[in-house]
Amino acid sequence: MTDKFNTFAGWTLFAGIVALGLSILSGMYFGADKHHELETFGYPIEGGEEEDGAAAGPSLPMLLAAADPAAGEKVFAKCVACHTIDQGGATGIGPNLFGVVGTGIASHAPGFDYSGALKDHGGDWNFENLDAWLQSPRNFANGTKMSFAGLGNAEDRANLIVYMNSMGSNLALPEVVVEEPAEAEASTEGEEGAEAEVEAEAAA
Ligand code: HEC
Repeated sequence: MTDKFNTFAGWTLFAGIVALGLSILSGMYFGADKHHELETFGYPIEGGEEEDGAAAGPSLPMLLAAADPAAGEKVFAKCVACHTIDQGGATGIGPNLFGVVGTGIASHAPGFDYSGALKDHGGDWNFENLDAWLQSPRNFANGTKMSFAGLGNAEDRANLIVYMNSMGSNLALPEVVVEEPAEAEASTEGEEGAEAEVEAEAAA
């Protein structure tokens, strides 16, 4: 009896150890699989990592300056299920995109039934907005009809944007500006000034 009990207890203990081992291993496996890019969607910590992260990667103007429209045309293969980009191309699940760069958001294809989310966004399809949209349509306009997860790779997006720009828009690419620390200080002073004004108004 005791022997049997011991055997049983032994196996239970063994099974427990195996299960623990497996859970540690699977945790390591899934943890290792995570891309760092995903982590940037977490809470931005003021004055902390976010600024350092932005400084680490090339800026959008830098990426655009180095971008290759031919590579962008290949990336556009991910869009053709829903979009045409030739002049006068048909509307599909999404609007035709010829000359969309630089036009007002959700106004490019007048006959197209844009979602309220995109219509309410406002602004133009400038390079920055396009980059943000293509990175994550849902983050850019929550509730958009464009069911596309987004392009995580900044170079892919830059290549694609330069290709789209070459299709009927041909806007000048943004200048590559190297930020000077003096400017940053000036803008902080400006903010403090504005705060002081608000306080003065509140006191009055
Ligand atoms: C599954 C279909 C689908 C895919 C794939 C898709 N789109 Fe769209 N796209 C749409 C729809 C639908 C809209 C309209 C969104 C709305 O009204 O909210 C849209 C809107 C847009 C707009 C805004 C157009 C305007 O007139 O304001 C741009 C720019 C755009 N898509 C670019 C792309 C690019 C570039 C890709 C490929 C990386 C892509 N889309 C992939 C369906 C798609």
